[in-house]
Amino acid sequence: MPTTTNLLQALPLPVLLVNAQERIVAANDGAKALLGGEIVGRSFVTVLRQPALTAALDAALREGRGDRVRVRIASGAREMVAMVSASPLEPAPDADLPQGGALIAIEDITATEEAEAMRRDFVANVSHELRTPLTALMGFIETLRGAAKDDPVARDRFLSIMEREAGRMNRLVGDLLSLSRVESEERRRPTKTVDLTAAIRGALQTLQATAEAQGVTLIREGEAGTLRVIGDPDQLTQVFSNLVENAIKYGGSGGEVRVTVTRLEHEPVLRGPALRIEVADKGEGIEAMHLPRLTERFYRVDTHRSREQGGTGLGLAIVKHIVARHRGRLKVESEKGKGSRFTVILPER
Ligand SMILES: Nc1ncnc2c1ncn2[C@@H]1O[C@H](COP(=O)(O)OP(=O)(O)O)[C@@H](O)[C@H]1O
Ligand SMILES: [Mg+2]
Repeated sequence: MPTTTNLLQALPLPVLLVNAQERIVAANDGAKALLGGEIVGRSFVTVLRQPALTAALDAALREGRGDRVRVRIASGAREMVAMVSASPLEPAPDADLPQGGALIAIEDITATEEAEAMRRDFVANVSHELRTPLTALMGFIETLRGAAKDDPVARDRFLSIMEREAGRMNRLVGDLLSLSRVESEERRRPTKTVDLTAAIRGALQTLQATAEAQGVTLIREGEAGTLRVIGDPDQLTQVFSNLVENAIKYGGSGGEVRVTVTRLEHEPVLRGPALRIEVADKGEGIEAMHLPRLTERFYRVDTHRSREQGGTGLGLAIVKHIVARHRGRLKVESEKGKGSRFTVILPER
């Protein structure tokens, strides 16, 4: 027969045993790591001072009724959200269990709650982003039916605004679909052999007219021959389009956007040969505080400006997931006033 402590030790959750006098009589390593090494022998309420939990323990000890409560537990610098269950132990004459005690099990649900909060935020953000252009469209439809009914000049103007707003919704839905596809495929490695040079060329060609219209020169530098990576050609083109488009839109004041490709014999993190693609502009740059959050969905430095430029706030989130799917790295460097540099490093085939 295993001893009580053996049994607790084998359980995958932090677990403690409390006797009828509410004293902790055994705990596994998980529980000690969470609540402190010296908890055995102490009174339970001095270890976890939570009224809801004390009530649950009471119910288990006095009424023989199990209960689960959600509590916050501070452990070191971290605060965790936990589901704690208190289960009564039936008296068992043969065991070295405390007679009439209770078993306390602590389940860390922090990650689940965080994921849930992120999902809620995402849905709220999407709804808000869709509602803005939709409200504009509905307003203009009403105006066209009423006040502007017989005014051809106003009608033309309103129709172009409506076209722009519908375009915005269309881009948003397109980006949402891209994002969800990339996310669902993230764990599936791409299998095609792609010429990176062609993917970059494609992205630059598509954006040439936009660059010219904004007075920006697109410059391509570095390795120029065929550069093979294992990848998804459309997704890789999308990475470079998004980065170059951002550089034109937000860094265009510097007059040039430079795409530089370098072959690395040995990339220390990827532990092998790699290709480094840098997209650099000489625009106004990004303040350091924004850099870590830039690839979050809907995060923008200046929401108004992004909307004005037809942005959805999803471009860099898409880039991040595509790069991750290709087992690559994404790095963002920027200095206010000097420009920004987005670097993608991909393992070479
Ligand atoms: N090259 C750049 N220079 C300055 N800011 C940039 C640059 N690239 C991206 N940003 C900032 O990052 C934000 C997020 O970019 P992105 O995810 O592509 O969304 P969007 O372009 O739709 O706003 C942009 O709104 C902008 O504030
Ligand atoms: Mg963008």
